[in-house]
Amino acid sequence: MKAERGATVMAVASGKGGVGKTTVAVNLTVALTRLNHRVALLDADFGLGNVDVFLGLAPERHIGHLLAGDATLAEILIQGPGGAQIVPASSGLQSLTSLTSGQRHVLASAFEKLCANLDFLLIDTASGISDNVIETMLLAGRVMLVTSVEPAAIVDAYATAKVLHSAASSMEIGIVVNNARTPEDATLAFKQLDAAARRFLGRGLKYYGYVSEDPAVRDAVLVQKAIVDHMPQSPASRCFRVLAARIAGLGPVRGSGLRLATDAGRVIPASEVPQCA
Ligand SMILES: Nc1ncnc2c1ncn2[C@@H]1O[C@H](COP(=O)(O)OP(=O)(O)OP(=O)(O)O)[C@@H](O)[C@H]1O
Ligand SMILES: [Mg+2]
Repeated sequence: MKAERGATVMAVASGKGGVGKTTVAVNLTVALTRLNHRVALLDADFGLGNVDVFLGLAPERHIGHLLAGDATLAEILIQGPGGAQIVPASSGLQSLTSLTSGQRHVLASAFEKLCANLDFLLIDTASGISDNVIETMLLAGRVMLVTSVEPAAIVDAYATAKVLHSAASSMEIGIVVNNARTPEDATLAFKQLDAAARRFLGRGLKYYGYVSEDPAVRDAVLVQKAIVDHMPQSPASRCFRVLAARIAGLGPVRGSGLRLATDAGRVIPASEVPQCA
């Protein structure tokens, strides 16, 4: 992929916590580097980041130092597997759970610099639909919503899609169903989400794909490696490679610049809740 085409900026979000955002972001990052793409992963779970832990990295500085003006972007970037560049978040810094507009501008201009030499910038976000999370998603050109097949995760993914749609209706929203027992289960979860979005938001969602439920994912977390490196032939690793190839084939979308989130659409009436079979 050529530099002049610009980097694809993709935020990985979910609504519900614990559905596998960081797992997907980390493994997609590594899988994309194995396809010879230049990739960076920004840990935007600013207060409780753990990308570094997933990858066994020990950064000395993090995004908090950049936002405070105590370090440059180059000084906080660390090398991850396959040459991926990692922008670590802080852990336990509550001041970063709600960024000021000045900090958002520092972040946006750091993005610009980073993207100049990249094919992909992935952004791992925190759970929930706080302003911080929504505004971070709005920095991206595409949002990947990760859900499981569980009704609560599907409902929260829809809530996130709704808030995002009301803030930026042209934003591409793609769905990844994680922890799926079968491809059919994953397709069904996607169809429920897509049907709710078509009916109530007047738009469809993209199906990026699924990741199998795989005990090896937890084993990889324990040895602090991406599963695509640790157990490349495991079912989840195969899914991550398929997902990476699909994402790479979508073509670049430029970061959409700093936009402000709105509160519109945060309350989901019962009639809009996606039907979970
Ligand atoms: N496909 C999978 N198969 C089995 N276990 C998985 C799978 N995906 C994720 N997990 C496990 O689920 C747990 C939560 O994953 P992860 O931390 O990636 O979620 P998250 O959405 O980033 O959470 P948070 O909202 O706290 O940031 C981890 O223990 C991880 O190993
Ligand atoms: Mg996470």
